[in-house]
Amino acid sequence: MAGDDKKPDPNGTVPEGGPRPPVEARTEENLVSPPSRHYPETGPELRRSARADPPTTGHSWDGIEEYDNPMPRWWLWTFYICIAWAVIYMLLYPAWPLVSKATPGLLGYSTRAEVVREMQDFEARNEVWFQRLVETEVASLREDTELERFAVQAGRAVFAAQCSQCHGAGAQGVQAGGFPSLLNDAWLWGGTLEDIHQTISHGIRNEDDPDARWSEMPAFGVDGLLSDEEIDQVVEYVRAMSGQSHDAALAEPGAEVFEWNCAACHMDDGSGNTDLGAPALNNQIWLYGGDRDTLRHTIVYSRFGVMPAFTQRLREAEIRAVAVYVHQLGGGQ
Ligand code: HEC
Ligand code: HEC
Repeated sequence: MAGDDKKPDPNGTVPEGGPRPPVEARTEENLVSPPSRHYPETGPELRRSARADPPTTGHSWDGIEEYDNPMPRWWLWTFYICIAWAVIYMLLYPAWPLVSKATPGLLGYSTRAEVVREMQDFEARNEVWFQRLVETEVASLREDTELERFAVQAGRAVFAAQCSQCHGAGAQGVQAGGFPSLLNDAWLWGGTLEDIHQTISHGIRNEDDPDARWSEMPAFGVDGLLSDEEIDQVVEYVRAMSGQSHDAALAEPGAEVFEWNCAACHMDDGSGNTDLGAPALNNQIWLYGGDRDTLRHTIVYSRFGVMPAFTQRLREAEIRAVAVYVHQLGGGQ
């Protein structure tokens, strides 16, 4: 036959085991159907199950038929229990959304009411402490350690919300803004619990509270109270009394300028006066700054630091709590 003497194709593949045997053309005679399949003998088990073949649903996909089996009982029961659960839940709890709120449910349960109740509980518990804060003498607020602990916690929260924007999160102050640090023991208006309580209650140089702390340093430059030369001299004198580098030749006459113009408020030795909110000038702690330019600016234009009053904004107990908090920061007297 033609295939027998066909040379192997140089590029093609030679079938393994030599050339492929010729394929006979199909005729009536050689047409055979594949042998029918033989299955292993079915045992009695298999036969029984075959007998119990359930009815089919009549659905058939590509010859695969769907048995009409009942659901497993455990599955059905779980299903029914879920339905019952859902119905009971819908009756007892808020379930169906309506226009503005959901159906209330028979139990009247509401997560929002729950939160409100918890907050009320919390406040009621704090109320006892707030009461004690208000009933205790301001000066002895730190004598009861338990009460003090509560006050410091509550005061810290008040400070973060009401004071930190000016005094800094850690009460370290912001010199550029004239916001004093509350951490040291240099006080403008006094560092006892009562002083601090008073400052917070009524504020400083504000127009809203008639009891606000008040004082004004004269603007020695713009009001023409001192000449330029005298200002230069007193600047050097302030630098000398605060222990900074200074021009001794200017500082010497500066002492006299100070005595006549400044000592009334800042005291002879520059130690300041808390009755007037006049800061000490004989230390390294500055409200506005101790470099020459800043000193000059303060003396020429004066300063006018304002702090709001808190009697309208906070409860008395909160004012006391934050006073205790500030007092224990390190500088309390
Ligand atoms: C709007 C800014 C501002 C806020 C808010 C503010 N303060 Fe003040 N506070 C000041 C300024 C400014 C001064 C200094 C005023 C001055 O120059 O005498 C000051 C001074 C003080 C002083 C006096 C310091 C001293 O040395 O005597 C205390 C105490 C104080 N603040 C506590 C608080 C507390 C506590 C709060 C929050 C309840 C608070 N401040 C909120 C601006 C503020
Ligand atoms: C009527 C009282 C008064 C007189 C007089 C006065 N001061 Fe003052 N001085 C104050 C007060 C009050 C402040 C704080 C102002 C503020 O906080 O806004 C202050 C602040 C200052 C400061 C800022 C200190 C800092 O820490 O940044 C300097 C410096 C100063 N005074 C120097 C002088 C000198 C120098 C004179 C005299 C030429 C003088 N003062 C006269 C009341 C006075």
